[in-house]
Amino acid sequence: MIHPDYTRDEHSARYPRVERLMPAMEWDAHFDTVREIEQLKRERNAIVLAHNYQRPEIFHGVADVQGDSLALAGAAARSRAEVVVMCGVHFMAETAKLLAPRKTVLLPDLGAGCSLADSITAADVRALRAAHPRAPVVCYVNTSAEVKAASDVCCTSANALQIVESLGEPEVIFVPDQFLAAWVARHTRVRIIPWKGRCEVHERFTAPEIEEYRRDTQAYVLAHPECSPEVQQAADYVGSTSGMIEALRKARPARAVLITECSMADNVSSAFPQTEFLRPCNLCPHMQRITLTGVHAALRDLAPQIEVDEALAPAARACVQRMFEQMYRLTA
Ligand code: 13P
Ligand code: SF4
Repeated sequence: MIHPDYTRDEHSARYPRVERLMPAMEWDAHFDTVREIEQLKRERNAIVLAHNYQRPEIFHGVADVQGDSLALAGAAARSRAEVVVMCGVHFMAETAKLLAPRKTVLLPDLGAGCSLADSITAADVRALRAAHPRAPVVCYVNTSAEVKAASDVCCTSANALQIVESLGEPEVIFVPDQFLAAWVARHTRVRIIPWKGRCEVHERFTAPEIEEYRRDTQAYVLAHPECSPEVQQAADYVGSTSGMIEALRKARPARAVLITECSMADNVSSAFPQTEFLRPCNLCPHMQRITLTGVHAALRDLAPQIEVDEALAPAARACVQRMFEQMYRLTA
């Protein structure tokens, strides 16, 4: 099948998605790069996956799938593409490679890490197991393949509570995010044994800041569970990035504040024209390393590619697959 070229008309047709965020001139300046990326996608049989925290020109310009960690992992596994470009951070690309080992997985900047993934090693997981030998280990998807290989089952912020409860155990080791662990602990009878990891972006939000928003603007407050327990308690809704979008759909508030990485409000604002988004700006420096020109270079050069150590891959893959199996069991 011959695909037509990406045209200026198509580019203009996408502009309403970002018109609240950038002047038309800025969007037009991205045209050549977007057109070349679209062309390379066709030539390489490639798909671009973009996390909700990505820059608008990536999220609205070239992404084939947009979503949270869970959605992107599932999309990587299901896609028929031969090449996956992960517009997100390293653990997301590694998870995609685990689930799609025969595909070429590209991460446009290998420096796009994550403070949570960096907060724990496999040796730390083994030490926790030695201290709590009867407790299974649930690891957040924001971990390295090495940590996944040392854990029993993976989870994301969208399914952490269900995964913990699905194990039917009285106690569970939950790594590495102490705030997500605290959120799970507040909603379950399972005893949660946490690790001390934190997200460098979400830990910066404070409860007084939220009270101020509420007092001054009466905004509907949605917080990510990587925020502190005080922030979680001050929010109207706590959930994953996709959970927040769903909550906005239900609540349709006049004003909202997303207590999470600030690109998220930019990206979702076009889907909620009736909502005014207040924008506290905490950017994730790792997510911001991914740029439109970086995506273009990755597709052109088929680099940098993500590989997972063959000694770790089977155990790490099983850890992620168990998450999907548990989810399937719960919904079947
Ligand atoms: P989500 O899975 O909710 O998208 O979160 C991933 C993440 O890194 C949040 O900081
Ligand atoms: Fe990691 Fe926090 Fe950035 Fe998410 S926002 S990728 S948890 S550092």
